[in-house]
Amino acid sequence: MRVIKILVALLATVVFFVLLAQTDADYQGWMKAAVASKGKVAKGIAAKDGPGTAAEAKAMESSFKQIEDYWTKKGASDAVGFAKQARTASADVAKAASAGDFDAANTAMMSLGGACGGCHMSHRAKGGDGSFQIK
Ligand code: HEC
Repeated sequence: MRVIKILVALLATVVFFVLLAQTDADYQGWMKAAVASKGKVAKGIAAKDGPGTAAEAKAMESSFKQIEDYWTKKGASDAVGFAKQARTASADVAKAASAGDFDAANTAMMSLGGACGGCHMSHRAKGGDGSFQIK
């Protein structure tokens, strides 16, 4: 009986870490997708491509929505706030770009940039090998 209990406890620990690693890998995927969209949005604004910019800004919005949900589950309210700021700024960019208002789109991009820096300062750690981690 005792052995079984220990085995079950061990198994639960392994499952816990596998799940943890998986969500962190997911997180990196969302972050990378958001960053890729941000680059395309900046190019779209420079080229004054309304529909293209709006589509990429919407993709960015949904990446930040997943990031926001991740932090909500973790219970880190400051990170939730930054993710929300990034999500609403993305939505504002999409709206402005659809309307052909690229000045407003640029203003929304500034608000987006503030959210990136704010969250990284408190929740992004740099590992010994130079890779980024969640803290
Ligand atoms: C709510 C918090 C939060 C917001 C908002 C946020 N980030 Fe991040 N970012 C992180 C965390 C945590 C990591 C470390 C984990 C990782 O690498 O995915 C990270 C990692 C990164 C990385 C490194 C990716 C890699 O190679 O591992 C880049 C680049 C990045 N963010 C860019 C941005 C940009 C650009 C924005 C704004 C448009 C942004 N981030 C907004 C939390 C955030």
